[in-house]
Amino acid sequence: MKFIIDTEENIAKKAAQRYVEILNRKPDTVLGFATGSTPLGLYAELQRLNAAGALSFKDVTTFNLDEYAGLDGSHDQSYRYFMDHNLFMGVDIDRSRTHVPSGLDIAAAADYDRQIKEAGGIELQLLGIGNNGHIGFNEPGTPIDSITHLVDLTEMTRKANARFFASLDEVPTQAVTMGIKTVMNARSIMLMALGKGKADIVKKSFTGPVTPEVPASILQLHPFVEIYLDYEAASML
Ligand code: PGA
Repeated sequence: MKFIIDTEENIAKKAAQRYVEILNRKPDTVLGFATGSTPLGLYAELQRLNAAGALSFKDVTTFNLDEYAGLDGSHDQSYRYFMDHNLFMGVDIDRSRTHVPSGLDIAAAADYDRQIKEAGGIELQLLGIGNNGHIGFNEPGTPIDSITHLVDLTEMTRKANARFFASLDEVPTQAVTMGIKTVMNARSIMLMALGKGKADIVKKSFTGPVTPEVPASILQLHPFVEIYLDYEAASML
């Protein structure tokens, strides 16, 4: 594991440079994207670099980590909507090559890993980390051999995400997420965490024992992981 620790602004810039390198080397790369507040700076930077001609998404294929069960892609809290509005509409990507698990057709989840494999596998998977160590929506206790599946969201996760909804009651109770094995199959992984609130779980995940109770700790077993942290998130390391 490699740690990159800097200001929030520089983290976004440095992470974006990884995409410049990869896409200039292999324009038809398969990328795994994530939602949440954490990647917003990176996504803004990718849009800026794309507009400046430093990288192109023209031949890129993407797979997102997860989606709320029950939300259609046109719902403004769906992760499809998030990706369209925070990245895809701002870059030269072919939207038909962007994949987000369906929140409505839950049975399709069973096919998501096959689709990823058929596309050539994910070259770089971006991850955030939940306060309980979840990656994607793989909550504590998720088996390490899990592939894309339907999950019940914990109260902690629903409360953490309630800030985006009118009330806690409106936060879906289930989601479809890539499994731990799906994530671990990516050839390289970039995890980002920002802010003091993530310091404790960052410490537990990357300096503590590898355990399904802290899903992100499994990343210690992956051969190519980069952890991008601002100074606050790194403060307990
Ligand atoms: P956040 O979410 O980026 O909004 O903190 C991260 C996550 O829950 O994976």
